Amino acid sequence: MWHRGGMSCKEYRDRDGQPMTEHELQVEALVPMYGLIPLSSRINVLLKMSRQAGSDTTSTAIRAIILYVATNRSVYRNLISELCSSQHSHPIKYQEALKLPYLQAIVTEALRIYSPVGFPGSRVVPPGGTTVFGHLIPEATWVMLPQWCVGRSKEIWGPDANIFRPERWLRQEGESEEEMNERLERWKRIDTTFGNGDVACLGKHIALMKISKAIVEVSKSRSQFSKSMQLTKVVPIDVVVFKF
Ligand code: HEM
Repeated sequence: MWHRGGMSCKEYRDRDGQPMTEHELQVEALVPMYGLIPLSSRINVLLKMSRQAGSDTTSTAIRAIILYVATNRSVYRNLISELCSSQHSHPIKYQEALKLPYLQAIVTEALRIYSPVGFPGSRVVPPGGTTVFGHLIPEATWVMLPQWCVGRSKEIWGPDANIFRPERWLRQEGESEEEMNERLERWKRIDTTFGNGDVACLGKHIALMKISKAIVEVSKSRSQFSKSMQLTKVVPIDVVVFKF
């Protein structure tokens, strides 16, 4: 079985002489950064989730999306057009946001091109080794698939891999619905934004909910966005405070 790589936890013990888990060690490493005193292991994991995994990643994604939308006039217009033509609650419910294809395409595309996490945890090749694209990888080798490489790969996304283009997640000209679904399924399998397997991100759906709702509400809160579809210039985004 594949298991996660990391530091050898056997070498590290807490004040009572008990071996420390990888989670505990990671949070210990965060303690000087946040000026906190070490807490019990369970609280430490929660701390990791709220301080590092849960907030920095999500806010990075929201900021990236705001930047990409505010600097791409056609994307911005399409988003506003979709928001104006849809019936939804105020604030929007996540189930409603999921039914907005252009919004979801923006979110997915931003996470591809600007993944908040650049490197996932490594994995250890199981006994007997493995072969990937004809390359033999010996057992016990630590491997990882960095999101920043996958997300910008021209082999996967085509020559415009470095361009923010939400339309790539929608139906292409001449493409049947079946073909589109097959393409998106293939891309979903490649996607490493939230990691994969049994240690994949636990907060994926919370993050996607927060991001979708935040982008809709920020867009609507700009009166220039919602009052007129005749937008002629992109307005710089002010400081926005999110409360979840
Ligand atoms: C856009 C936002 C987020 C991104 C891109 C992201 C990405 C990731 C990635 C790449 C991993 C490592 C997975 C692996 O090694 O395979 C991870 C782990 C984790 N994430 Fe997230 N995450 C996000 C938001 C959140 C949120 C909101 C929470 C909690 C509320 C959260 C909780 C966790 C936890 C607890 C783990 C460790 C899982 C484990 O070791 O079993 N994440 N995340």
